[in-house]
Amino acid sequence: MKNVSSKEAVLARVKEIIGEDGYQNAFAPIEEASGLPNAAYWSDEWLRLEQTHCFQESWVFAGAEAEIPNKGDIKPIEIGGAPIMLVRDQDASVQAFHNVCRHRGARLITEDCHRANITCPYHAWTYALDGKLRARPHFHGPDKIDKFSDGGGETLDLVAVRVACWNGCIFVNISGKAEALEDWLAPMVTRCKNYDFGAIKWAGKLSFEVNANWKLIYENYMEGYHVFAVHPKLLKFAPMNIRWSGEWDKHVFYNDYIFPEVSEGRGEDLPHYPNLPHGDAKRGLWFLCFPHFAAEVYPDQFTVLVSYPVAPDKTREEIHVFLIDEAATSDEYKEPREALFKMWEDLNHEDIGMLERLQQGRLSPAYDGGRLSLHWEGPTHEFGARIIKKIVT
Ligand code: FES
Ligand SMILES: [Fe+2]
Repeated sequence: MKNVSSKEAVLARVKEIIGEDGYQNAFAPIEEASGLPNAAYWSDEWLRLEQTHCFQESWVFAGAEAEIPNKGDIKPIEIGGAPIMLVRDQDASVQAFHNVCRHRGARLITEDCHRANITCPYHAWTYALDGKLRARPHFHGPDKIDKFSDGGGETLDLVAVRVACWNGCIFVNISGKAEALEDWLAPMVTRCKNYDFGAIKWAGKLSFEVNANWKLIYENYMEGYHVFAVHPKLLKFAPMNIRWSGEWDKHVFYNDYIFPEVSEGRGEDLPHYPNLPHGDAKRGLWFLCFPHFAAEVYPDQFTVLVSYPVAPDKTREEIHVFLIDEAATSDEYKEPREALFKMWEDLNHEDIGMLERLQQGRLSPAYDGGRLSLHWEGPTHEFGARIIKKIVT
């Protein structure tokens, strides 16, 4: 919650960027509403507002625990526009720090690496894996080396970021003020009570550079309307007549269907969740925990889709696949596992082509946010309203 004067200032800026009409539209009933105005997809300032209020104030998926399996493994990541690092410390716990030196502010870690400690390349200030400052060479003059046995005091240690793990997924919350992670995930987890998420293991990830605004990825993710035109294989697997629009439950969008038959990449040839009831063996569920943690649950997998805005028209997207126990890594399941990754890769490329068109279309002064389908696009419309609400409250 912002203080009153900053809240008013933010609201004023929001209305200046997207216009009073654009603001009102976001909260109008869908029958009368348009999508967000073009400026919400092209403005640098708008993206900064989203990064600060949506990404930094919420829980954000930062990676899989399996990406930093060993003590000393470090993974840098940008979240909400801020450089962060995930560290597997000496106790094998996952920690997160702001990825910036406490001396003159050099970014400390630039790529995935394995380190005994974290030494800044600029003047060699050295931090332990728990973030404590350990050494500060020549700081008080030639050959005078400060050594700290228990950190350099709270003003000089790396700045910790709130971090929590859930079944192999690492989440961070930069503001430190979001609700408990379990509460944030609860609307998803309670709908999946038949699924033993304790059995999921990370099988790997796919990365994509998308020349489109991050919101377009999720607007597209939520609506099944485009499936008949864009995804021939997916349409065969799950035709239009078993689909519905999905809906929001608090801050979590969800959708589901019962599909006619398992197929390659969805339920075929890979082990299913242990003790999954028969009725769920042909069920697909998908979720978006606002703002960016999307997860698809099929009988044989938990697949995460996340996007990290880089610029208004550039987004880094990742798909992390979790499979059941040994299916994630063993040779026995190599072939169906590779088929599953190929399925996600192909499907996502079909979407990326459309996302980049949507971004370009938003350069047209003739586009006013369009008209949305009452049947399919209610949740998409609500996504825009949620973003604005998160920015201004
Ligand atoms: S900026 Fe890191 S040691 Fe100087
Ligand atoms: Fe799609």
